[in-house]
Amino acid sequence: MDLRVQPAARLRGRIRVPGDKSISHRALLLGALGKGRTKIQGFPANADCLATLDCLRALGVRAERTASEEISVYGRGKLQQPVRILDAKNSGTTVRLLLGLLAGQHFTSTLTGDASLCRRPMGRVTAPLRQMGARIFGREGGRYVPLTITGGALQGITYRLPVASAQVKSALLLAGLQATGTTALEEPAPSRDHTERMLAYLGVELVREGTRVSIKGPQSPVGGRIVVPGDISSAAFLLVAGLLVPEGQVVITGVGVNPTRTGILDLLTGAGGKIRIGNHRVFNGEPVADLVIEPSQLKSFRISGPLVPRLVDEIPVLAVAATQAAGTTVIRDAGELRLKESDRLQVVVQGLRKLGGAVEEMSDGLTIYGPTPLKGTLLESHGDHRMAMAWVIAGLLARGETVVKGAECIGVSFPGFTRCLAGLGAEVS
Ligand code: S3P
Repeated sequence: MDLRVQPAARLRGRIRVPGDKSISHRALLLGALGKGRTKIQGFPANADCLATLDCLRALGVRAERTASEEISVYGRGKLQQPVRILDAKNSGTTVRLLLGLLAGQHFTSTLTGDASLCRRPMGRVTAPLRQMGARIFGREGGRYVPLTITGGALQGITYRLPVASAQVKSALLLAGLQATGTTALEEPAPSRDHTERMLAYLGVELVREGTRVSIKGPQSPVGGRIVVPGDISSAAFLLVAGLLVPEGQVVITGVGVNPTRTGILDLLTGAGGKIRIGNHRVFNGEPVADLVIEPSQLKSFRISGPLVPRLVDEIPVLAVAATQAAGTTVIRDAGELRLKESDRLQVVVQGLRKLGGAVEEMSDGLTIYGPTPLKGTLLESHGDHRMAMAWVIAGLLARGETVVKGAECIGVSFPGFTRCLAGLGAEVS
């Protein structure tokens, strides 16, 4: 599917974005492993979360849609051996977190995914899970899907993660929950902590100290009600558009503002972005707020070090923003972007150059010189939802029409994206 995007002069309106994808995966998985019913409200019907739901159903988990955007999951602790291959499709979170869950289940199952997922590294999860006692077989010594896992009795481990990755940390916490003894993890920098917050909310005891977390197993979460906040990583696209389209005001209500995810708010506010954060509240241990965004002149910015995990998924759209910011923007320590749904550093450079942006590629980042006027062009999503949406936002800021090819992948995280933009007055068809 191609999207045709016209330049926007004004964006105005009050919107809600779909429920947080990271939190929703975790609610499904912990609900499945827990005792009793977990009612998930604000559940987003995106392809990634539906992939997790489908895999859990294949593992014998009962899950019912109980209202619009509401799913009830009936925990069963012990899952059932699936009679088919578990397909995580495009979702890295599904496959990595499921591996942690399956590591503690006494049967054999096989996981796979689409062409993009088959290229993404899994050794970062399979190596420590093997240390805990899981048996895992697959391509290149178990470093890529398809992977077959035989779970069983696990032993807790002490493990220092080589990269700040919430997916790795969460997989090991899910295994640690089912293991005997203590699983103690340390990260090089804090990554999103939704798993830790949800475990605590569902009655699991864990100890957190800075970048360390430990859990003593076995324990079972107790089912409850989880209200999923709006996804800040989806809001990011509308936030950048609201700052850079010349006129109007964009209000995004009910956005998750967990400090491990708000790097984009800190960064853009520091760069001169007019973002008001108000109406603070807390849903199941997760902070939530409304964002009021007004057109702003941005200064260039720097992204490096511990800020990277706090905005890792927002870098494509922040790179688009950097073309409109005054000065030289530098992004470093972001080599992980090459291992996402596409090689996001390479895809960003190709697309920004086609748009007329001035950008240089480094092994672990980008240098972007701004402000430069953008001109509409033909851009490729490379099957990557966040690239497709970043290009649509670039199209709103460019002169002339922009065409984004392969935009169907937007459904991986934000199925209502174009409707949302149209509601603000943008022309995207
Ligand atoms: C996620 C963690 C991040 C992020 C991904 C979702 C999660 O990945 O990029 O979109 O839900 O835990 P890494 O753990 O690989 O950094």
